[in-house]
Amino acid sequence: MNQMNLIKKLPKAELHLHIEGTFEPELMFEIASRNNVAIRFKSIEEIKEAYNFHNLQSFLDIYYEGAKVLIHERDFYDLTMAYLKRCHEDHVVHTEIFFDPQTHTERGIRFETVFKGIHGALNDAQKKWGITSHMIMCFLRHLSEEEAFKTLEQSLPFKKDIIAVGLDSSEVGHPPRKFQRVFEAAMKEGYLTVAHAGEEGEPAYIWEALDLLKVKRIDHGVRSLEDEKLTERLILEKMPLTVCPLSNLKLCVVKKLADHNLKKMLELGVKVTINSDDPAYFGGYMNENFIQTAEALKLSDQELKIIAQNSFEASFISDELKQKWIKEIKAL
Ligand code: HPA
Ligand code: ZN
Repeated sequence: MNQMNLIKKLPKAELHLHIEGTFEPELMFEIASRNNVAIRFKSIEEIKEAYNFHNLQSFLDIYYEGAKVLIHERDFYDLTMAYLKRCHEDHVVHTEIFFDPQTHTERGIRFETVFKGIHGALNDAQKKWGITSHMIMCFLRHLSEEEAFKTLEQSLPFKKDIIAVGLDSSEVGHPPRKFQRVFEAAMKEGYLTVAHAGEEGEPAYIWEALDLLKVKRIDHGVRSLEDEKLTERLILEKMPLTVCPLSNLKLCVVKKLADHNLKKMLELGVKVTINSDDPAYFGGYMNENFIQTAEALKLSDQELKIIAQNSFEASFISDELKQKWIKEIKAL
């Protein structure tokens, strides 16, 4: 089997995906028009030209702007369904998606509207394609602790359908410790925890995410190797990193994909996974991330299988389901 076919056939779990980051320009125009919301871009081509980022913030500015056209439950449903269709095409059989309630509640959209639209699509995709999923609610770290607490409160009526809380948005200057108390309160409510750390931020942020936020996974974590003690700990604790190669390329975390340290981490025994982060903005969904990374880093078939296996081991599904998918991977 050639590698492209192997990648297509591998069952995969996606563990780092912002649903607002799957907003394709075509759908953005369609929803803007039906909601009578003006967007500053005149054409799809113009939008795509604007997707020339030089760091995380330059992306976030455009990402939050695009999300402004999402108003009704149906909008969130359509957005999520379009992503799930891509999962089906890429043989992503399980996905744990981030959503950013504050991006919407700040504009007067109800938490319930956001939740129901996304959750409805996840349910329908399970019926239609058998894709299993979990929802992870992220706090925007550029906003205050108080606002995060407010969001946590709003989530409680829906907590049985939200598996974890996470932390995203502008990393540098907003260390994990800023949200220690919110995360403690979330854990008391039964939420698991994850956090973006070490994308642009220093390794100290990864230590804080582990020690203060008690995370089950580190989102990104590509700066881990700068700290030998940290690397040792990640290996010892089998701590998963949800790495997003095309995102790192587009946001200039690496100059070229061949410079990415994913293979190095894999060789050291770090539990790395491949994910698409914000695929509508970064030029590729799951398989595209696998294909381009495999080519740039000359990953072996065995390494690709380990990455796919890691994605299930690092997921929040049952042990039985993990074993079922791992068995399929090994049989390929
Ligand atoms: N990093 C931080 N915040 C984000 C990202 C990311 O990669 N994508 C969407 N929000
Ligand atoms: Zn992310």
